[in-house]
Amino acid sequence: MSEGIVTASYVGATVLFILALGGLSNPETSRRGNLYGMLGMAIALIATISGVTANIAILIAALVVGGSIGLVLARRVQMTEMPELVAILHSLVGMAAVLVGFANFMDPNVHFTGVELTIHDIETYLGILIGAITFSGSVIAFGKLSGKITGNPMLLPARHWLNLGLLIASIYFCVLFVDQSAAGGGMMPLLIMTGIALLFGIHMVMAIGGADMPVVVSMLNSYSGWAAAATGFMLSNDLLIVTGALVGSSGAILSYIMCRAMNRKFLAVIAGGFGTTTGGSSASAEEQGEVVALQPAEVASLLKESKQVVIIPGYGMAVAQAQHIVCEITKSLRAKKVNVRFAIHPVAGRMPGHMNVLLAEAKVPYDIVFEMDEINDDFPDVDVAIVIGANDIVNPSAQTDPNSPIAGMPVLECWKAETTIVLKRSMATGYAGVQNPLFFKENTRMLFGDARTSLDEVFKNL
Ligand code: TAP
Repeated sequence: MSEGIVTASYVGATVLFILALGGLSNPETSRRGNLYGMLGMAIALIATISGVTANIAILIAALVVGGSIGLVLARRVQMTEMPELVAILHSLVGMAAVLVGFANFMDPNVHFTGVELTIHDIETYLGILIGAITFSGSVIAFGKLSGKITGNPMLLPARHWLNLGLLIASIYFCVLFVDQSAAGGGMMPLLIMTGIALLFGIHMVMAIGGADMPVVVSMLNSYSGWAAAATGFMLSNDLLIVTGALVGSSGAILSYIMCRAMNRKFLAVIAGGFGTTTGGSSASAEEQGEVVALQPAEVASLLKESKQVVIIPGYGMAVAQAQHIVCEITKSLRAKKVNVRFAIHPVAGRMPGHMNVLLAEAKVPYDIVFEMDEINDDFPDVDVAIVIGANDIVNPSAQTDPNSPIAGMPVLECWKAETTIVLKRSMATGYAGVQNPLFFKENTRMLFGDARTSLDEVFKNL
């Protein structure tokens, strides 16, 4: 491929990536957005590979191995494991940035002098730094999301000083690296900084409590983009710079949205310590009275008698894979002239947009799916609010208990409906590990059991 065609392909791929992001911002256009992204990536890969002249066999072999692993993983992964998969994929981006950084630094064919060398060194240093933080942070996030590492925050004494120390050390070694690199060395400060960055990534994510994991997921998404952009600078690859910047900035916007959804300050989340129980929330840690359980037939008749129903899906709906039966029930109720709407909390489930994806998969019409802010004020007029495998996002203690780990997080105020029905298997807590006073309210009814099995029964009774 001539250089002109490669450049044109890169521009085309960039436009497709931007269209992809635009498409993904809305459920109705997200399929198209995905297609744009896939097409853009295919063009980018072909254009990049066509420029390679040496070691083609190794490149093809690596592509086949990597592509096959990706294909098998993506086919095997359950919808509930998607967030873990995303986290581990972010770690690969980070690792790639670190490896490319070292390879580039050691490449005898890369010659720079004077200011150019300094700029190149700083690009290399930053690429490896961000890559190493992304790598170790994402591995820990993977562990936390998959339950292999406890969701409780690990709070070291003087952790803020530790972070500050690591930051100052990174700056010091950067200066040392730039100095030594001018004299033909620099490997040692680069290696030490990599160690520091790996430690920082681990410490940063370990210190974040379960309830704040959404911010971590989107933040690591952003970091992986910046790591790719830094790699693009190192390799003088425009497409990688643009693509990295797109991922980095969209991830940053997502982190901002997640912080707003949880009423947290971004810097405070990064510094860690949120999502902790401060010891004063014993009231929310214990059960708080009697719960009233219903049978599926009773739930069906309550639903049939209602005019306004709001369905609140949560992580449990994903676990139970109950979205299809939820859609069937919705259709059946709508046919009976019941107004059914869905209320989606921004951090419901385990990844941004988790519930929207499930509902879209089950072909629930988009126009009855509402964001929290659009529907939260309507609960007093709702006859039945039905909570399907959600817990933290409907926990009133976020408003009433200042010591709760989720204090201040906006929640769906379903208890204001005439009756709230909660579907879950037991009295277990949600992701943040706090008991939910909603279950003990006078107008709350529980339907215990796996959400899909319970809803199958409800549907039969409808
Ligand atoms: P959770 O608070 O995790 O509650 C889910 C509930 O579903 C659990 O209480 C569980 O109770 C129930 N459940 C599990 N399997 C079920 C099944 N098969 N059938 C019926 N119920 C089942 O979920 P949520 O309300 O969606 O809140 C999300 C939480 O995850 C928040 O704390 C959020 O901060 C965190 N988080 C979110 C994200 C993103 S980006 N969305 C990322 C990481 C963490 P039983 O065990 O009793 O059934």
